Amino acid sequence: MKTTFSFRATLPFLGLLALTTQPLCALDNGLARTPPMGWNSWNKFGCNVSDDLIRSTADAMVSSGLKDAGYEYVVIDDCWQVSRDDHGNIVPDPQRFPSGIKALADYVHSKGLKFGIYSDAGTGTCQNRPGGRGYEFQDARQYADWGVDYLKYDWCNHSTQNSEASYSIMRDALKKSGRPIVFSLCEWGSTKPWLWAKDVGNLWRATGDITDKWSTARKDDGLGVVQILDQVDGLESYAGPGHWNDPDMLEVGNGGLSDTEARAHFSLWCILAAPLMAGNDIRSMSAATKAILTNKELIAVDQDPLGIQGRRVRRDGDLEVWSKQLSDGGRAVALLNRGESPSKISVSWTEIGYPESLSSSVRDLWSGKNVGVKKGSYSATVPSHGAVVLRIMPASGSTPTS
Ligand code: GLA
Repeated sequence: MKTTFSFRATLPFLGLLALTTQPLCALDNGLARTPPMGWNSWNKFGCNVSDDLIRSTADAMVSSGLKDAGYEYVVIDDCWQVSRDDHGNIVPDPQRFPSGIKALADYVHSKGLKFGIYSDAGTGTCQNRPGGRGYEFQDARQYADWGVDYLKYDWCNHSTQNSEASYSIMRDALKKSGRPIVFSLCEWGSTKPWLWAKDVGNLWRATGDITDKWSTARKDDGLGVVQILDQVDGLESYAGPGHWNDPDMLEVGNGGLSDTEARAHFSLWCILAAPLMAGNDIRSMSAATKAILTNKELIAVDQDPLGIQGRRVRRDGDLEVWSKQLSDGGRAVALLNRGESPSKISVSWTEIGYPESLSSSVRDLWSGKNVGVKKGSYSATVPSHGAVVLRIMPASGSTPTS
């Protein structure tokens, strides 16, 4: 008997097959609609992490006012894990985390905070602890059972793995776990994650590791604050609610930056709509460090719901103007002096997208003072390695251009 093949009759089945075998492709976890804020152990403590450090940091997050200022995630970076058991389950260091990770996460949650952890898309982490490669679904289930709310996923020991494919497996595993978990990609910008990671993670590191310095002379010395700025400038179109460029965690309060430099570092991270992960010992910070990390008006710039990453609109040698469009029609403007002596820097209305004739109120966000209604431009003297941040708002009766 002759069998006839009808392509048309087969179509619905092919469609069904396509639906059932379709990968879970978009991230769409609804998280990080504004840049995530929190604390991460790495910059200050490296591998010296413990149950006590995390509990006391969670306590300090509340007592210092950081929680009220918006900091939310307490994240343990590398070195919490030591091995895998006979069933492949990841094993936390029993000496450093004697009560286990779930009890620790419960404690962090009891403070009204969220809990984060770290792993790696390769076979081992950057400190050669077990990585997630091949264990993604098992680990994601475990993290969800422990109550993890945030996963930072590194890129060491990845051999010939493809970054997008590797990170997508963990995205799908987290989704399958059923728990909302912010997914933070950490492949240092090496395969241009801004081009592909919007559908994979909520944030992606855009650069190598930050060092606790204003500037570094050689690549081998790591990236200072200004080297990072130069690397993220130009990536602004890739950021937005739910998907952010990450210029790395803050070094504010770690000793390598003067207070003026730390203010400039924090200012520019806010202009960049960067994730704000404090990286210092928040249990013993100076009043100046606390004042920087909790400046509510700067944080409001970072957390502006429009989610636009600011950009450098002018560079005259060491003097720079950065601008970020805000949801109320205003602009946050940073006047940045990378030079060695104080200098006057001005911003003109036209370079921030306003007509020259527009009357706008100008507020200085570090002094907390309104400096008046101005037309056309505004100038300020900016200290060496410092930044002045302004909130410029068309005065009532004037309409801004975009
Ligand atoms: C990499 C990351 C850092 C930190 C360390 C931990 O270098 O970029 O942020 O997580 O690994 O080993």
